[in-house]
Amino acid sequence: MGRMASRILSNFTNLITVSILVFLSEFAFATASITNTKNPHEAFLQCFLSHTCSNSTTQVIYTPDTSSYGTILRSSVQNLRYLSPSTTKPAFIIVPANPSHVQATVTCGKAHSLHVRTRSGGHDHEGLSYASAGDPFVLLDLVNLRSVSVDASTSTAWVEAGATVGELYYGISIVTKNKTLAFPAATYPTVGVGGLFSGGGIGTLLRKYGTSADNIVDALVVDANGNLLTRKTMGEDLFWAIRGGGASSFCIVISYKIRLVYVPSTVAVFRVDRDLSQGVTKVVERWQHVAPKLDDNFFVRLLTMAINDNVGGKVNRTIRAWIEGLFLGSRCGDLLSILEKRFPELRVEAKDCTEMSWLQSTLFFAQGYSVDNPSQLLDRRPQRNSSTKAKSDFVKKPITEKGWERIWKLLLEAKDQRVGLILEPWGGRMEEIPEDAVAFPHRKGNLYNLQYFMRWFETEEAATRMHLKWMRKLYRFMTPYVSKNPRAAYLNMKDLDLGRNDEGKTSYAKASVWGRKYFLNNFERLARVKARVDPDDYFWNEQSIPPLFA
Ligand SMILES: Cc1cc2nc3c(=O)[nH]c(=O)nc-3n(C[C@H](O)[C@H](O)[C@H](O)COP(=O)(O)OP(=O)(O)OC[C@H]3O[C@@H](n4cnc5c(N)ncnc54)[C@H](O)[C@@H]3O)c2cc1C
Ligand SMILES: *[C@@H]1O[C@H](CO)[C@@H](O)[C@H](O)[C@H]1NC(C)=O
Ligand SMILES: *[C@@H]1O[C@H](CO)[C@@H](O)[C@H](O)[C@H]1NC(C)=O
Ligand SMILES: *[C@@H]1O[C@H](CO)[C@@H](O)[C@H](O)[C@H]1NC(C)=O
Ligand SMILES: *[C@@H]1O[C@H](CO)[C@@H](O)[C@H](O)[C@H]1NC(C)=O
Repeated sequence: MGRMASRILSNFTNLITVSILVFLSEFAFATASITNTKNPHEAFLQCFLSHTCSNSTTQVIYTPDTSSYGTILRSSVQNLRYLSPSTTKPAFIIVPANPSHVQATVTCGKAHSLHVRTRSGGHDHEGLSYASAGDPFVLLDLVNLRSVSVDASTSTAWVEAGATVGELYYGISIVTKNKTLAFPAATYPTVGVGGLFSGGGIGTLLRKYGTSADNIVDALVVDANGNLLTRKTMGEDLFWAIRGGGASSFCIVISYKIRLVYVPSTVAVFRVDRDLSQGVTKVVERWQHVAPKLDDNFFVRLLTMAINDNVGGKVNRTIRAWIEGLFLGSRCGDLLSILEKRFPELRVEAKDCTEMSWLQSTLFFAQGYSVDNPSQLLDRRPQRNSSTKAKSDFVKKPITEKGWERIWKLLLEAKDQRVGLILEPWGGRMEEIPEDAVAFPHRKGNLYNLQYFMRWFETEEAATRMHLKWMRKLYRFMTPYVSKNPRAAYLNMKDLDLGRNDEGKTSYAKASVWGRKYFLNNFERLARVKARVDPDDYFWNEQSIPPLFA
């Protein structure tokens, strides 16, 4: 046992002693039951230490009385709602230095009834990677498993799950000094590879190359028995499931092997914005017809929200939309002539367009970053200091101008709500990939993915309730405009309003309600994979996939 480890163990034993003393003084009659039961947390800790040869110089295990516990817990939290005092905090935080620490966590967690929550980038919209509805659990924080090793000769890379997409983009482009290598992943650089890839992963290369999950060729995982497996040994069904089915129901992903994609060494990007006085409604309506049908070298997305415009000291509330795009051709001239022909209502001009490397374009789309400073991609710190709520829909038929006017009215009236709508265009490669190629199912027939993102700064429970209530109202309001039977949703826009498992249990019938929204016809197959690889449901969470045995 390492020096560090024994110090932690002794700290922990002190903690247990103190809490037992407090307990005894208040409830002296309860002594018998205490002396007879070994504390399960202590048993877990001893098991973990005996299973790991802790010679590493970095600390691996933290308990609530370790001084840096709080710093580590908060380090990548994006949604402050799940740091509130009422949220159950992890009994341990384990920051693995190598896969054997992950294996020991699973083996000992299973033996001593401590569930595990795996965190890569901490962007889960419902905090499921670091918070739990009730039971004590271990937080496995993969922050130290984040290497990116690129093999330019085969255009592949192994990326560890704890890397952020910013670190991945940087590793692909800067380290190899090759501007034509890229990977289709998120537009926001602090998003973690572990959660993003296992739920799909969409960004500016989506129409050309599909989701992140579509470009994974191998993986290293730890299963519910603590075994370290690769694609060859895990079975094709599990490898299929972790590409869009959410790995958290099945295993812990250590790393993915990915196929890099080609981009021109120079690409062209543009951004314009329009508000109500500039015909935003017409632009949004047209966008739905144009963006999903463009050549797959062209990705044009749209973000819109109600904002308070300051006009000469007076607040004028309006709707504004930002339309931005990536063209996988090298010249602004070409970009402009395509848009002039296909989307004249947008009136994009030469000044709105810039030529740059693909790596710089990732900073351009991230916003708030400088395209001249790629090392910003390595900054993992969360940008958020707010509570958030997200939801998602898929749109198959364009919403009419009248429809958009109704939506604007709702957004304009809601003066206390900061909510943005992001419209991510489908089409291109997404039309071609079959629904069951990987577990991520949303393909042919969709025009775009619609994401609702809300944030607020108040911390009171009443404020949270008010904001969540309004978000549900918006979601109900959108019903006639979006996909039905099922009303589909994107797993990475995790939404517990769609339903949740009862504490420690699952029901196939109940889980079908949200399972079919996230996974369409792939849900049943996912439940069968779950039954094979995790029949005891060790990897339970509020929206985990239930095992289906029959
Ligand atoms: C600011 C912001 C921007 C976003 N931008 C995009 C975007 O551009 N495109 C997009 O597609 N999505 C985007 N998302 C959504 C994002 O894809 C999901 O939140 C995703 O799950 C985040 O992954 P993570 O590793 O950061 O999160 P985490 O919170 O660490 O994990 C998310 C889920 O995956 C599980 N998990 C994580 N790592 C592993 C692992 N190694 N093995 C098994 N299970 C694991 C967790 O337990 C949890 O259930 C964004 C989210 C936010 C908050
Ligand atoms: C720890 O042990 C492993 C295997 O025994 C070895 O590969 C590694 O270099 C050691 N690390 C340190 C920091 O000594
Ligand atoms: C970049 O990588 C691609 C694909 O591996 C290769 O064809 C190309 O020659 C590389 N370019 C440079 C400048 O190394
Ligand atoms: C306020 O916003 C409306 C809608 O965008 C617009 O028509 C009007 O001109 C704006 N008023 C001022 C003073 O800018
Ligand atoms: C949140 O952070 C942003 C950017 O860092 C800052 O401008 C804003 O004032 C902060 N808000 C609160 C309530 O802390």
